Amino acid sequence: MKYKVTLIPGDGIGPEVTDAAKRVLESVQIDINWEEVDAGMSSISKYGKPLPDQVINSIKRNKIALKGPLTTMVAKGFNSANVELRKKLDLYANVRPIFKIPGIESRYDKVDLIVIRENTEDLYSGIEHIISPGVAESLKVITKHASSRIAKFAFQYAQKHGRKKITVVHKANIMKLTDGLFLDCARDISKKFPDIEYEEMIVDNLSMQLVLNPERFDILLLSNLYGDIISDLCAGLVGGLGVVPGSNVGDKYTVYESVHGSALDIAGKNIANPLATILSAVLMLKHLSKNKEADQIMSSIKEVVKDKQNLTPDLGGTSTTTAFTDKLISKIYNS
Ligand code: NAI
Repeated sequence: MKYKVTLIPGDGIGPEVTDAAKRVLESVQIDINWEEVDAGMSSISKYGKPLPDQVINSIKRNKIALKGPLTTMVAKGFNSANVELRKKLDLYANVRPIFKIPGIESRYDKVDLIVIRENTEDLYSGIEHIISPGVAESLKVITKHASSRIAKFAFQYAQKHGRKKITVVHKANIMKLTDGLFLDCARDISKKFPDIEYEEMIVDNLSMQLVLNPERFDILLLSNLYGDIISDLCAGLVGGLGVVPGSNVGDKYTVYESVHGSALDIAGKNIANPLATILSAVLMLKHLSKNKEADQIMSSIKEVVKDKQNLTPDLGGTSTTTAFTDKLISKIYNS
């Protein structure tokens, strides 16, 4: 069967790491017709905006996309194209599996948790204004609809994937109404899933517990901002941003992308770690029910990372993006 998938190379290291993922998928002989579309900084000069309509239209047609990171200017410029993409396609769940790959050095041995982040509202609603000179305000929007929907998604995900416990993360001691509503919705939904253990934790305590003992967590359910920050913390538990994949899931469309950004500090140097994007492509294969090919790539990755010489500099090696990808592809061919 031939699949049609939207490919967004993105900014910074995006073209390097998405090209690596594309080559790896080709090596397991999945017949994908890639529809490549521009978004991000290059689109601003070409189309006057970072998220042109053809990107949205392409994903609507194909239902599935593999995406590189998009740069967002700090404190000026266009609003985030990532946030806009998630809102326009109603990709309400951001799912980020955080797992230890043997061979990749990290401080912990048995981390295996899933970050599930609400992806459409909270402080990311982008409602900000200056009230008077020297006073700025940003509105945190939490709705019953979005909070219940993401809680239901998390519990159903737990059931489907054999996960045992959900920890709902909040700061409802301070934000009693907004985080209180998020928590109330999660509590209500949890009653319909008595087989899944339910726990609540304040976000500051969670940060400490994750550093002390990440193995105790299974699924973390968070609103948008906490989910964004805690995802990067969790990446640090298993080797860094170079190894953590993700997906943005809605009822109609799914966009696969790594947790990391465009890493402008290393862009164009052929040293970016392509693993996070390759692992995102593996998640995409599972979604397409190509489990044999997904497993083939996964077991080859586990073999390749055993040899430190194959690793990119972020993991303590001296290899390049292309050399790592070549090594992985030759391992796949010989598997
Ligand atoms: P970043 O994730 O791009 O980089 C943080 C640090 O991790 C840098 O030192 C970078 O070199 C390193 N790093 C990240 N990915 C790596 C990889 N694959 N291999 C080796 N090292 C890697 O975060 P930063 O610098 O805060 O953001 C840069 C830009 O990316 C910003 O404009 C930000 O808005 C955007 N961004 C986009 C995302 C997306 O498109 N989903 C997600 C996060 C950030």
